[in-house]
Amino acid sequence: MIVLGIESSCDETGLAVYDSEKGLLAHVLHSQVEVHAEYGGVVPELASRDHIRYLMPLTEKVLEQAGIGKHELGGIAYTAGPGLIGALMSGASVARSLAWALDIPAVEVHHMEGHLLAPLLEAGAPGFPFVALLVSGGHTLLAHVAAIGRYEIIGQSLDDAAGEAFDKTAKMMGLGYPGGPVLAKLAETGRKDIFRFPRPMTDRPGLDFSFSGLKTFALNTWENNRQGAEDREQLRADIARAFEDAVVDTLLIKCRRALEQSGCSRLVVAGGVGANQHLRQRLQQLANEHRFSVSFPRLEFCTDNGAMIAFAGSLRLQAGQSQPLDIDARARWPMEDLLPLAKQ
Ligand code: KG4
Ligand code: ZN
Repeated sequence: MIVLGIESSCDETGLAVYDSEKGLLAHVLHSQVEVHAEYGGVVPELASRDHIRYLMPLTEKVLEQAGIGKHELGGIAYTAGPGLIGALMSGASVARSLAWALDIPAVEVHHMEGHLLAPLLEAGAPGFPFVALLVSGGHTLLAHVAAIGRYEIIGQSLDDAAGEAFDKTAKMMGLGYPGGPVLAKLAETGRKDIFRFPRPMTDRPGLDFSFSGLKTFALNTWENNRQGAEDREQLRADIARAFEDAVVDTLLIKCRRALEQSGCSRLVVAGGVGANQHLRQRLQQLANEHRFSVSFPRLEFCTDNGAMIAFAGSLRLQAGQSQPLDIDARARWPMEDLLPLAKQ
């Protein structure tokens, strides 16, 4: 079955064509960074309008790149939540209308399930069960994954998501939007252990996270040191490094704990912060030391993309799942409400 995937939950319009026999045929992405940059963050109304502008041209482009006509599509998968409601509705409207016009089924995909399954697009994908660490701009969570659609959340952020903490800390240091990748780049020139930030919630049992205190810690460190600083750029970089080290250490401690508690020997990492090189290296090291496997999506499939939606949707469509014609989307959608695949 050939499936068109549509992602439009936030500030990226992603389209992809996935063939259940041949794999991923094509994917294209339009980022809205320029639209939102002058406002320092995502403006929901502008996001919806930009999705509307790009959804149809990108659909045509991705079909052309895949070398197929629209009548060869067997189904359409679209992100139905969680996310910005207007942005989601833009994608849902196009997906539903196309499916109706082509007389093919359309299936709702949970954005975080898309992220979680993205590592399975790669060669040598792990089998079930595994522990998934999802670290995006909107969510940070650890899940025990028994099978597709059977997700038990075993830990989550009580306040800011890891990506959100990266973005807010970057903004506070004047690094603009989207700050996460810029802060990570800056951390590369930061010196280790010039500052030491806390590793929140690691000194007690449990798998929950709390990252919001780290940005305050970064702000105080910046305010207390910048007056006397000879080299402000180096100071910024040292703070970025201390912040990144604290987030990475915290994630590592919780991942190891989650693997021990669940008895799993496979870890899957996904979501935008999964693109962080430092996190990837340190997790790989930990995996080698403690004999578990770790899988990541390729960098471009860590952040939002259409491929993960086409893939997740194709699994559900092949299992016979689809929804009726109503154009529907939800800003909030607990992952644990998802259905397992009927065939399991
Ligand atoms: O998964 P994603 O594209 O969107 C959501 O579903 O939220 O994640 C975006 C988040 C942003 O907060 C961004 O700053 C963060 O991922 N991010 C990074 C890196 N690349 C993206 N954070 C740290 N290091 C990176 N290299
Ligand atoms: Zn995402």
